Amino acid sequence: MKIGIVGLGIIGSRMAANWRKAGHEVVGWNRTREHAAELGIPLCDTPRALAERCEAIMVVVSDPAALDAVVSGADGLTTTPLANKLVLNATTVDAAANQYTGAAVAAAGGRFVETPFTGSKDGAESGKLVFYAGGDVEAVRQAEPLLLQTGARVFHFGPVGSASDVKLAMNLMIANIMQSMVEAFDLVNASGVDLDAFAEAYKVNASWCGLSAMKLPKLRERDFSPHFSVKHMTKDMGLAVQRAAKLGVPVPHTCHVHALLQQALQQGLGDLDFSALSARK
Ligand SMILES: NC(=O)c1ccc[n+]([C@@H]2O[C@H](COP(=O)([O-])OP(=O)(O)OC[C@H]3O[C@@H](n4cnc5c(N)ncnc54)[C@H](OP(=O)(O)O)[C@@H]3O)[C@@H](O)[C@H]2O)c1
Repeated sequence: MKIGIVGLGIIGSRMAANWRKAGHEVVGWNRTREHAAELGIPLCDTPRALAERCEAIMVVVSDPAALDAVVSGADGLTTTPLANKLVLNATTVDAAANQYTGAAVAAAGGRFVETPFTGSKDGAESGKLVFYAGGDVEAVRQAEPLLLQTGARVFHFGPVGSASDVKLAMNLMIANIMQSMVEAFDLVNASGVDLDAFAEAYKVNASWCGLSAMKLPKLRERDFSPHFSVKHMTKDMGLAVQRAAKLGVPVPHTCHVHALLQQALQQGLGDLDFSALSARK
């Protein structure tokens, strides 16, 4: 199949590699062409030109404004007919942005599925992402085999918008747990406790989780090279806080961690991994 990827950042570039390995013809578009020059993927001049060449399109850009630009902006995907084309969006945005995108794709004749995911850089690299799908059953059925060539699971939650809410809920937990880990780690580190002994005991504590396994070694080494950046986590917590307010759900802990992330962003840590909450002054 001819697959086009709009957004060749940390995740999009790795999805491209997985789909090429699976035998697809993959082309890409990236706002800053030079960032994608080394990937060895043929690059299109515009999202529109990419849509004209492909049967399936994956969008994985940074935020709602970027999504809107590549879908509905000048030379966006929907400026060309999309009949018989499948458009997937893995950018983490809120339900309303995915619903707006889905309507724009449908108006151009295409099929749309929101496909936010979890698994980060390593999951993308190893083809083990977990996708949350929102869309009609037929479209999700069509998307599933493709998603499973760059992922390990697909959970279908309902219509477009449902998977966005699940994704924001999941990330809300990840950010809040990360801040708790940072506080616990800083406490034991400052107290002079042996960190190997702490790590062994933590592994059999009820609070140990997948995030602990990923991030504890990084905290110890103070390795904040980006897997999932502070700037994207700040965006996601902002979207979660707004969505919760709209639904009348109090999220005081999330509001606090969102404020801490915003401080980290203001301190120039935006491009580092979100575990750099630990480097916030
Ligand atoms: N990394 C993770 O672990 C992870 C996990 C779950 C979900 N996500 C979500 O997946 C999405 C991508 O994440 P990532 O880590 O791959 O991000 P990234 O490495 O920062 O890549 C972002 C991509 O978006 C493009 N972009 C930014 N602003 C744009 C605009 N205005 N118009 C067009 N393109 C624009 C960038 O192009 P340039 O090269 O020109 O900057 C780049 O290709 C985000 O929504 C993120 O929240 C990421």
